[in-house]
Amino acid sequence: MTFITKVLKEKDVTCKPVWFMRQAGRYLPEFREIRRTNQNFIDLCLNPDLTEKITLQPLQRFKLDAAIIFSDILIIPHALGQKVVFEKDLGPTLSEFNDKIFFKISEKEFTKKLNPVYEAIRKTRKSLNINKSLIGFSGAPWTLIYYMFNIKDKGYDFIKKQKNLILEVLEKLSIFINIHLNKQKEAGVDVVQIFDSWAGLLENEDLNRYCILPNKKIVTNCKENDIPTICFPKGLSDNYKEFAKQVKPDGISIDYNIKPEWAAENLKKICIQGGMDPKILIDQEEKKVLHTVDKYLEVFHNCPYIFNLGHGILPNTNPELIKKITERVKKNDR
Ligand code: CP3
Repeated sequence: MTFITKVLKEKDVTCKPVWFMRQAGRYLPEFREIRRTNQNFIDLCLNPDLTEKITLQPLQRFKLDAAIIFSDILIIPHALGQKVVFEKDLGPTLSEFNDKIFFKISEKEFTKKLNPVYEAIRKTRKSLNINKSLIGFSGAPWTLIYYMFNIKDKGYDFIKKQKNLILEVLEKLSIFINIHLNKQKEAGVDVVQIFDSWAGLLENEDLNRYCILPNKKIVTNCKENDIPTICFPKGLSDNYKEFAKQVKPDGISIDYNIKPEWAAENLKKICIQGGMDPKILIDQEEKKVLHTVDKYLEVFHNCPYIFNLGHGILPNTNPELIKKITERVKKNDR
């Protein structure tokens, strides 16, 4: 058992494992170097040798407890026939959703397209120390829909106007997300994280319909397949409590708007992860950053807790600071 699975499954409070969302990314010069000669991001995610290399880069620098497989949540819309392009400084752009293509793609075609991801997991698991977790992941249905239908430009009303279509898409996505997670487990990941980065946009009954229920279905599938699961329903504020109560994942990742004291008080019987604002790492001097690290460790001293941030590492973060934070967390173990 790795430290992370011990905390997730046994609610161990004696160790505080550490990893970072986006730990393999643009803040690392060695990642930027690979990226410079690999302009097509989706192709890079489907290159098992480079995926393994990028996944292990942060572990060569820092004493992390986990590697997260280098991929992207948008690999699922890609495998379901939508064109996904990452343009520099613009974020992802997806081609217009095409229902004829989307609903036609079979499980077999889907997993065939994603085979390089599973191949990369197998390779990485072999070279990764057995004491370290290998984390797999997926986007939650709602967050994938947000990108697949370009909700940013079309506006929230779009999901009200196209409710039936959205619900049908959500249904298929839920099934294929479970397939993708099970395949990752088969290939060698021992934990998965579900990213619902846009959960905070959902209003009233939509929260239940598009976020809580679909996440619950995914967690149930993972439990049936013995996969410890961390959910990250970003932006839920007080609704984190309702989410935890209904979805019951092994772990819940809190964002930077959640006060750690509130989380320790309201998200009991569940492992908590993260919370610290990634912006602090850029805006504040090292001493203050490490002071905030101590604060999180203190608040969660008697809770099962995995150290992480409240969102991904920002591109202009100094890698040396990630090293210092990691060392600080490790020094704290009982
Ligand atoms: O965390 C890791 O190190 C593992 C790999 C990983 C990436 N994306 C690599 C990536 C993971 C787990 C993700 C998740 C992801 N992708 C999410 C959920 C988490 C979150 O950030 O809210 C989302 C919403 C996406 C979609 C996505 N991918 C966006 C919006 C962007 C562009 C903006 C940005 O933050 O860079 C990406 C690109 C992306 N995904 C990069 C990396 C390393 C940068 C690509 C580049 O080099 O240009």
